[in-house]
Amino acid sequence: MAIATLDEHLVPHVTNHQLTCTVMNGDCNDVLSSLPPHSVDLAITSPPYFQQRSYSEAGIGNEDTVDQYLDALIDTFESLLLALKPHGNIIYNLGDKYANGGLMLVPYRFAMRIIDELGLILVNDITWLKQNPVPHQFDRRLTSSTEPFFHFAQDTNYYYDRDAFMPDAVAQRSKPSKRLGQRYRMLIEESDLSQWQRMAAHDALDEAIYDVKSGTIHSFRMKIQGVHAPAYGGQEGGRKIRMERDGFTIIRISGNRMKKDVIESPVGSLKGNGHPAIFPEKIIRELIRLLSPEGGTVLDHYVGSGTTLVSALKEGRNCIGIDISTEYCRAAATRVQQDDEIPRGTVWMKSEY
Ligand SMILES: C[S@@+](CC[C@H](N)C(=O)[O-])C[C@H]1O[C@@H](n2cnc3c(N)ncnc32)[C@H](O)[C@@H]1O
Repeated sequence: MAIATLDEHLVPHVTNHQLTCTVMNGDCNDVLSSLPPHSVDLAITSPPYFQQRSYSEAGIGNEDTVDQYLDALIDTFESLLLALKPHGNIIYNLGDKYANGGLMLVPYRFAMRIIDELGLILVNDITWLKQNPVPHQFDRRLTSSTEPFFHFAQDTNYYYDRDAFMPDAVAQRSKPSKRLGQRYRMLIEESDLSQWQRMAAHDALDEAIYDVKSGTIHSFRMKIQGVHAPAYGGQEGGRKIRMERDGFTIIRISGNRMKKDVIESPVGSLKGNGHPAIFPEKIIRELIRLLSPEGGTVLDHYVGSGTTLVSALKEGRNCIGIDISTEYCRAAATRVQQDDEIPRGTVWMKSEY
């Protein structure tokens, strides 16, 4: 690794050392092993894709075979695990490659090896749906517009703050209609339910209407035996049993939109920054909130343009960025200093290159 220096323009512009941002130049295989053990809460990164472009002579991605490429990625992953806290999380974003007209499934080969050889769990395969994919129309295949973000953890005790993820995904609550539940009441009366079942159905309906009006739930659906199609198997198992036993079942809807494993966002771009593979800040900030505590440390060991750094600081986390390119390290550090959304005087900037 290069000797630690502080460039003139990177001298900390702070008086209050609330958050630290460290940018380190070197091969991440070497640099990762210099980090204190169990110091990282979340590693979120995107290595160079297999045989896509040459970032640097020495960098990863230009191996002759996909297996050699995966071997190199796995080696680095092992060093990363030493720096990760036991409840820490890892996000890897990888792109695929076509060879002889067919997809190589490189990201999935990587994920399988992490699971099989290193024993991690794959918590989610999050799909990034690019709203502005490279506009390349092919004659005999569709335009690729998705990439996986793999969420790995060492066991099921990983840090997780679901409520902090996509907080804007709460459904709008409108005032409940005065006729809420009337149709179900009529259907109960028209049904073949016994007298006792009808009474119980009306009581349950009253309770659900009350819960909607008081804001405890967003809405509900009622299923009545002989009126609605029966519920079948799987997660509906409990409902099927209730419907057969009571003659009805009520499905309560909480109002929070489901937090799904698909994130839609355009590909990132930065004025004046020529880095070819910039993360979309929106995705990174969402994942940082979901998978690391405030004040924790977020690492990107292929930091490129520094999206992970600015995202972490905006979310109140410390950050470490590593890149083999001195030029990218310099640009990432400058980006942090120039981003207007990061309050001046809140970041202690350290650079080693
Ligand atoms: C896909 S880009 C990352 C882009 C980044 N996510 C962003 O938002 O700009 C991969 C980066 O890994 C760097 N790199 C390649 N091999 C490396 C290695 N062995 N150690 C550290 N960095 C490496 C490249 O210089 C490049 O900037």
